[in-house]
Amino acid sequence: MSGRLGVSADEAVRVVAPARSLRGSPALPGDKSLSHRSLMFSALSAGTQRIHGLSGGGDVVATEGVLRALGADIRRDGEVLVVGPAELREAADVLDCGNSGTSMRLLAGLLAGQPFFSVLTGDSSLRRRPMARILEPLRRMGAQVDGAGQGTRAPLALRGGGLVGIEHRSPVASAQVKSCLLLAGLFAEGELLVREPHRSRDHSERMLAAGGVELDVREDGVAMVCGQRPDFGDVDLGVPADISAAAFFAVAAAIVPGAELRLLQVGTNPTRTGLLDALDAAGVALEAEDERVEAGEPRADLVVRGAALRPFELGGAVIPRLIDEVPVLAVLAARAEGVTTIRDAADLRAKESDRVATTATMLRAFGIAVDERPDGLVIYGQGDRPLRGGAVIDACGDHRIAMAAAIAALVADGPTTLRGVDAVDTSFPGFFTTLDELRHG
Ligand code: S3P
Repeated sequence: MSGRLGVSADEAVRVVAPARSLRGSPALPGDKSLSHRSLMFSALSAGTQRIHGLSGGGDVVATEGVLRALGADIRRDGEVLVVGPAELREAADVLDCGNSGTSMRLLAGLLAGQPFFSVLTGDSSLRRRPMARILEPLRRMGAQVDGAGQGTRAPLALRGGGLVGIEHRSPVASAQVKSCLLLAGLFAEGELLVREPHRSRDHSERMLAAGGVELDVREDGVAMVCGQRPDFGDVDLGVPADISAAAFFAVAAAIVPGAELRLLQVGTNPTRTGLLDALDAAGVALEAEDERVEAGEPRADLVVRGAALRPFELGGAVIPRLIDEVPVLAVLAARAEGVTTIRDAADLRAKESDRVATTATMLRAFGIAVDERPDGLVIYGQGDRPLRGGAVIDACGDHRIAMAAAIAALVADGPTTLRGVDAVDTSFPGFFTTLDELRHG
């Protein structure tokens, strides 16, 4: 029962109809990574920061709620969030991070530095995700931390304070690990060095530097003299649109014949633009216009048009630069005639769902042949022949699986039923309405 705009009205189930054409500029949420960091670093800064363009998704709302519970001075002025200076204090209750791994891992670092007791918890998906990657180095810095699963998963109990800097070699390229330790380092003594196998997103480094914190950013990591604090003063901070949200529409424009979409003021930090490299490798026509830099973060309008697609290879250093875009890039690969291989992406199995498995299951439901590998996927793309319509797909509690499936549904030969689509609210409330507004013809 597809509605007039191609989508049924039920909250958790959506029926998505194929699209004849897509045109326009979708309204995009503010960058999620930058939204979390703007809130946390502002809460630690002197002066009053007015944050524009913050993501309204559930993950960022969770960070805001935890910071408020810790005594942060956060007010709303219409669309703008105003963060004043305040001393953080012990919360009266457990702190709920919902579905948000970034909230939990970054706040664990911040709380490890505070001389009081905190408990961080989250939904069933977040309580299954690996936390040893942050807890082991936090313990070495001197924090008392425990958790479920013999101290490896949430709920996490932290008694912070008295930290010293360490050298940490992270086995995974993870901005959450790096940022967690940088936040702890702001409240430690000595020096901190975090190394990673490939460079992960560097928003924390850029934002801390904008707040006057001196960092030594190296090819293989970042070093800091501990005990510094960001000070932004009284300032307006603008969050660009989220490239990880824009990615769904970029792929939609690439696969729907005759489509053209303009994605406005998208964050184009080079540690996040693996998507653009992948689109280029697939032969997608892409232009960047109105390029600017605000508070150390580049942004641009991206114009994307469909073209004949080629298969592509993803692996190595590009993976952290597009880690959240793999489900929707797998949809792109399904529309390229030939074999696309995605390697070195084992950490996808530790996301909101096991995204290697859930992406493979989603594509198979559309009739695409996929091999699942321990660290990635082999996708046998079928060119511009329509995908199989009539599929019923479960989002598995994962917002990015729900949205990737909705994009694939645009090029199926009949309507697709998506279950569990309320998951999209964690990063992109209004996604389905936005998608329908782009339909033409
Ligand atoms: C994020 C880092 C990435 C990414 C996540 C957001 C961040 O996770 O997948 O959506 O804001 O630091 P990892 O650090 O676990 O790779």
